[in-house]
Amino acid sequence: MRNHTIAAIPADGIGPEVIAAGLQVLDTLAAVSGDFSISQTTFDWGSDYYRKHGVLMPADGLEQLKSFDAIYFGAVGAPDVPDHISLWGLRLPICQGFDQYANVRPTRILPGIRTPLRDCGPGDLDWVIVRENSEGEYSGSGGRAHKGLPEEVGTEVSIFTRVGVTRIMRYAFRIAQSRPRKLLTVVTKSNAQRHGMVMWDEIAAEVAAEFPDVTWDKMLVDAMAVRMTLNPKSLDTIVATNLHADILSDLAGALAGSLGVAPTGNIDPERRFPSMFEPIHGSAFDITGKGIANPIATFWTAVQMLEHLGENAAAARLMTAIEQVCAAGIMTPDVGGTANTQDVTDAVCRALEGRNALQVEEA
Ligand code: IPM
Ligand code: MG
Repeated sequence: MRNHTIAAIPADGIGPEVIAAGLQVLDTLAAVSGDFSISQTTFDWGSDYYRKHGVLMPADGLEQLKSFDAIYFGAVGAPDVPDHISLWGLRLPICQGFDQYANVRPTRILPGIRTPLRDCGPGDLDWVIVRENSEGEYSGSGGRAHKGLPEEVGTEVSIFTRVGVTRIMRYAFRIAQSRPRKLLTVVTKSNAQRHGMVMWDEIAAEVAAEFPDVTWDKMLVDAMAVRMTLNPKSLDTIVATNLHADILSDLAGALAGSLGVAPTGNIDPERRFPSMFEPIHGSAFDITGKGIANPIATFWTAVQMLEHLGENAAAARLMTAIEQVCAAGIMTPDVGGTANTQDVTDAVCRALEGRNALQVEEA
């Protein structure tokens, strides 16, 4: 029997609610699959930990996580902790410290979920966004001078390295190659940003030569926002810088019906370190503690985690269960339903057990 060790970091806001739901679903999935098990360890890091200890995770945090097979992450951010402190105290040190350079964001309209786009149904929007996750606009490089004085200066330096761009480009071409349409769109802003972005374009052309079976094209990020909205069918795999893909993936989530269902994997493709899987939605303080958080993004990111762990059959089984439950209309209020987090979780567990997902509504 294969065993996988998972470090759960529920952290802030609705993170603990959705991670608890995700762990329940993973336990059910392991039980019905019968050929693997999950051992999970929960870490209490996040903003509460910060209020007590002055840091979001202990100094040896990465050391503690290193031996796990994967990390299952909830959300970080609290109203009384500045966002750049919480982000740079927990999530980014894990992404950057473990060199999880590929951020993978599958986006699709799930059955039963309504898109704000006219004449667009499931199948018309089926994308994988590959976000560079280790450098670029999130390199953390820059500073402030003359602080507080009228002549104050702030710089935020985007760093693009040949190694960093080449490896994300190869990764994106490989994902595109693995999908039926073998289609990749490379996003930059190389008209206005004439150094790093032009290097992106050049490296894209170089790497493309290694993948003659992949069709690729280039888009400027502003025009890309238009194309995603007006011609979603023309896109398949998308690669962009850290910030561009951050913005485009929020647009993608909204076009697919809700950020509440959007998952993400922070992947170390070389498998030197554990990869980290999380919902995109964040802490959502307006609904924290109400029991109505949408757990679908957390389930979908578990699908990504299982694929990464080599449990492809279980991953497919979980994705099918998620789709059945959405199609049956068992959904949380953010996507127009009346179910709560536990209803959706129980329905997915029932679907995994091969029982009718709707039985939960009747029970
Ligand atoms: C995301 C989020 C984060 C990011 C925030 C929380 C810093 O928006 O995962 O897309 O920008 O990376
Ligand atoms: Mg974002």
